[in-house]
Amino acid sequence: SQNEPLKVMISGAPASGKGTQCEMIVQKFGLVHISTGDLLRSEVAAGSEIGNQAKEYMNSGRLVPDEVVTAMVIGRLSREDAKEKGWLLDGFPRSFAQAQSLEKMKIRPDVFIALDVPDEILIDRCVGRRLDPVTGKIYHIKNFPPETEEVKARLITRPDDTEEKVKSRLQIYKQNVEAILSTYSDLLKKIDGNRSKDVIFGEINSMLLQIKKEKETRKSEN
Ligand code: AP5
Repeated sequence: SQNEPLKVMISGAPASGKGTQCEMIVQKFGLVHISTGDLLRSEVAAGSEIGNQAKEYMNSGRLVPDEVVTAMVIGRLSREDAKEKGWLLDGFPRSFAQAQSLEKMKIRPDVFIALDVPDEILIDRCVGRRLDPVTGKIYHIKNFPPETEEVKARLITRPDDTEEKVKSRLQIYKQNVEAILSTYSDLLKKIDGNRSKDVIFGEINSMLLQIKKEKETRKSEN
């Protein structure tokens, strides 16, 4: 292949807007979106062995054991499409052990994006979030209401989006964040996630275009 594809990690507290930005990044850059939350939710829906192992943890807002999630992600990253088109890893690594597993395998991103949003805003975003099970699109009852009555009627709420569970998810996030950021301090780009989603995407877009350009320059010099 002519160009080394982009490899991106996106992180941030629950409801910081990772999934929302990933929809836009994928549309523009064609990366393979690997969201551990989405992968786990479809395992749960399918009633698979991984799903059965993960269900209780997810519903109570705790982290699924590292071994389960790490094996799932490494399997997904090693597929041909991810190697060819590049990848966008969303919601992983979420613990120091998960980050270390990737480091040991020499799997590193070009950039580690961290979305920064104040706590009080995160709670409101979670409680108002709705998902379209048909398209996978993310909505919010106030910020991004559905376009039609038909979509509105089928929207679902995640079982872990109650105020109480969001608070405990946020606490778990805070316990792990420093150790993960320190693993990627050389690749870290902090982004203010408390702005409109288009403004945030504008910043991510120019950053990714810049990184792509640098990769191509480096490649042609070698
Ligand atoms: P996961 O699905 O990854 O949940 P999360 O990290 O808590 O993130 P969210 O999906 O809640 O939020 P988001 O940042 O994607 O925000 P969104 O774009 O939807 O994980 C779920 C569970 O799976 C975990 O608790 C754990 O049990 C398990 N799990 C997953 N990964 C794991 C791992 N690596 N290890 C172990 N366990 C793991 O936006 C939120 C809302 O805000 C939406 O309504 C949206 O419309 C709105 N919104 C978005 N952007 C904006 C904006 N700019 N302005 C206004 N509103 C906005």
